[in-house]
Amino acid sequence: MSLEINSTQRCRWHDYATTTELEQAATLAILHAAHVAIGQRGAFHIVLAGGTTPRRVYESLRSADANWAAWHAYFGDERCLPADHAERNSRMAAQAWLDHVAIPAAQIHPIPAEMGADAAARTYAQLVSGIELFDLVLLGLGEDGHTASLFPDHDFGVTADAPAAIAVHDAPKPPPERVSLSAHRLSAARKVIFLVTGEGKRQAVKNWRSDANIPASAIAPACGGDVYVEAGLL
Ligand code: 6PG
Repeated sequence: MSLEINSTQRCRWHDYATTTELEQAATLAILHAAHVAIGQRGAFHIVLAGGTTPRRVYESLRSADANWAAWHAYFGDERCLPADHAERNSRMAAQAWLDHVAIPAAQIHPIPAEMGADAAARTYAQLVSGIELFDLVLLGLGEDGHTASLFPDHDFGVTADAPAAIAVHDAPKPPPERVSLSAHRLSAARKVIFLVTGEGKRQAVKNWRSDANIPASAIAPACGGDVYVEAGLL
């Protein structure tokens, strides 16, 4: 595992020889962040990543011995599909993990994207307004450098006056209608971990490490971000 700081965004790069090692490290990091947050503040507010990369991490959390009653789960983005649609990020997280642990249902907060992007963005922005800092934000990386549903050549919402949640109507990754927490909101976190695996991410990683202005590089928590990446992509 090597550790280096990307100068502009202050990202720490952690490389792992295998996807399994990366997923194990991510699982431990999540559980550690929860232990610290619950110990210090009595609750753990985590934002979940969508896509396929986090699935096995979520599955491994299923068997963790954690104080689930103190966990509060949010989503970084959602596709505007019916709530029970197989392609919903909330459904993937539920099937892999959330349906199998005792986090109170009232503490699991899917984005109501079935309402439509604009209405859901307004609703979710209101919901997260009560959380000054998330304890942990998990994010993926798209092949074009997107993260959550913040896509190149779109408004990432980086300024302090950006809405907490953004409606996306023309996402290049289907479906076109999505809702995403803004870059500014995703950056309001004590810790941010990106999970990056798969050959298809090679160019996005290269661009990111060359300080290209990709959506992932717009996520800038005060404490710097951590990128868990397969060594073969560096
Ligand atoms: C989504 C995700 C998206 C994802 C990346 C990586 O709704 O599609 O939020 O941002 O994290 O596209 O996707 P994979 O993990 O499937 O490679």
